[in-house]
Amino acid sequence: MDLGLKGKNAAITGSSQGIGNAIANSLADEGCNVALSARNQDRLDQAVAECEAKGVKAVGIICDLSTEDGCAKFIEEAGSQLGDLDILVNNVGGMIPGTLDSMTEETWGTVLNTNLMSFVYTTKYAVPHLKKSSAGRILNVSGVTGKQLLPGALTTTIPNTAIHGFAKIMAAELGPDGITVNTICPGFTNTESWGPRAEGMAKMKGITPDQVRDGISGQTLLGRWADPQEIGDAAAWIVSEKNSYQTGTVVEVCGGFSKYI
Ligand SMILES: NC(=O)c1ccc[n+]([C@@H]2O[C@H](COP(=O)([O-])OP(=O)(O)OC[C@H]3O[C@@H](n4cnc5c(N)ncnc54)[C@H](OP(=O)(O)O)[C@@H]3O)[C@@H](O)[C@H]2O)c1
Repeated sequence: MDLGLKGKNAAITGSSQGIGNAIANSLADEGCNVALSARNQDRLDQAVAECEAKGVKAVGIICDLSTEDGCAKFIEEAGSQLGDLDILVNNVGGMIPGTLDSMTEETWGTVLNTNLMSFVYTTKYAVPHLKKSSAGRILNVSGVTGKQLLPGALTTTIPNTAIHGFAKIMAAELGPDGITVNTICPGFTNTESWGPRAEGMAKMKGITPDQVRDGISGQTLLGRWADPQEIGDAAAWIVSEKNSYQTGTVVEVCGGFSKYI
């Protein structure tokens, strides 16, 4: 099926590795031009080259998305370098583990500015561009802790649930402009950042990193982790022109991790 993504322009936050990078690659596979972003130049250059090799225009923009200025810079440069925007993917984020006692004002600032406020600011700056598109799309990347209780996941549950609320409000505000706003909710996904994270969790629990990973696999119905590309491919469908009547939804791509009906 032709998804209608050929020649569209997409900006993806936090896309030099992991899920954001997989989404950029899936979009580029469909002929969509992509603007990637990160703080680290080398990894970003490599990611841009990979997308360019698929025959699309790809640009890399160094920015710190934990600030409003960084978000504004990303969207303005993405728009001017690609020649306007049809699609915004809010993906940047990650897990900073912590408890009510251990989290400080500073670490909460990092978590909330990166995993939540960046979504708000990039949306704010992208909307004027998306309104000019014939098929404007916003896709937020949250996570299963936004849908299902995972005891201990304090620092991801708060931004993820807020992202779901934010997306619903934006879907209502932007519906009259024909812009759809959805959220993809990945389950445990085998990204680079899970290497050190699994080691840290293993140390805390006195088990091996493989045991940590197997324990998570065992909680899914498919018995395994997601490959980032599986999230990327689902995301490409959600933001495609073909997918024109879906808005305000949360799409779980979690291998059956969620157990509610
Ligand atoms: N992996 C999972 O199992 C999983 C599950 C559910 C949901 N999610 C969600 O999926 C999203 C991506 O997760 P991931 O595991 O793919 O993350 P990741 O591997 O850590 O990649 C994060 C990307 O964002 C960039 N980045 C981080 N902070 C940034 C900042 N302040 N400004 C600009 N760029 C920044 C990183 O590059 P630089 O470091 O160079 O800046 C990198 O390209 C997150 O929102 C996460 O909560 C992940």
